[in-house]
Amino acid sequence: MDYALSNHPLSGKKVLVSAGPTQESLDPVRFISNHSTGKMGYAIARAAFLLGAQVKIVSGPVNINLPLIEVEHVTTAHEMYDALVTLAPFYDYIIMSAAVGDYRAEHIAENKIKKHSDTLSVTFKKNRDILQALGENKKDHQVICGFAMETENLLENAQKKLINKNADMIVANSLTEQGAGFGTDTNIVTFITREGNESLKKSSKEELGFKILMKLKEIEEK
Ligand code: CTP
Ligand code: CA
Repeated sequence: MDYALSNHPLSGKKVLVSAGPTQESLDPVRFISNHSTGKMGYAIARAAFLLGAQVKIVSGPVNINLPLIEVEHVTTAHEMYDALVTLAPFYDYIIMSAAVGDYRAEHIAENKIKKHSDTLSVTFKKNRDILQALGENKKDHQVICGFAMETENLLENAQKKLINKNADMIVANSLTEQGAGFGTDTNIVTFITREGNESLKKSSKEELGFKILMKLKEIEEK
């Protein structure tokens, strides 16, 4: 790795990272969620710490324990929204790597849903978009980065997310390529910024954490 850790390039910076999935209850024993493991977000947080930043993670339920870094644990998208919107004004770099659930059950059943019928319908309501809310309230000192998970039209969809959410960078993540996506230790991504696109070769999530942060620093310094 060619980053001079000794001069701590992110010293004095405050970095807020969201990581992992969210869970939305259906009844007292069940929830819906997604395959996110939190590896990417925790790798970014670890890199930020090694680069000298003050770091906080807002994390959905994951099986990772990272010593030395402060973690606020949340479960639902709503809880993640509240945590991040409250913390955001105090941070310089905000990285939304969490796989936030897009919908929650309109009503959470009070009792366990019984298998009385052959089919089951649940009505879902859309959750608020956290990145969009952070983008709308972006302060002059802030650099905001989101991710885009796509299985088709990756770059086009990711570019729309950059503009619609007022982000400074979207890390576009192809789920269709080998060695990319949920649970893997590597990712194949393109950085989408206002300046254009930059495709990276396959890298470990650890290394990508550093690359994302150094790119955000470059954007900040422009
Ligand atoms: N995101 C968010 N709040 C949500 C949903 C997504 O902050 N309620 C963030 C994610 O953390 C990610 C970015 O928005 O950084 C893009 O997430 P993604 O799921 O790829 O896109 P969506 O905008 O949710 O649109 P869709 O799932 O329909 O592609
Ligand atoms: Ca989504």
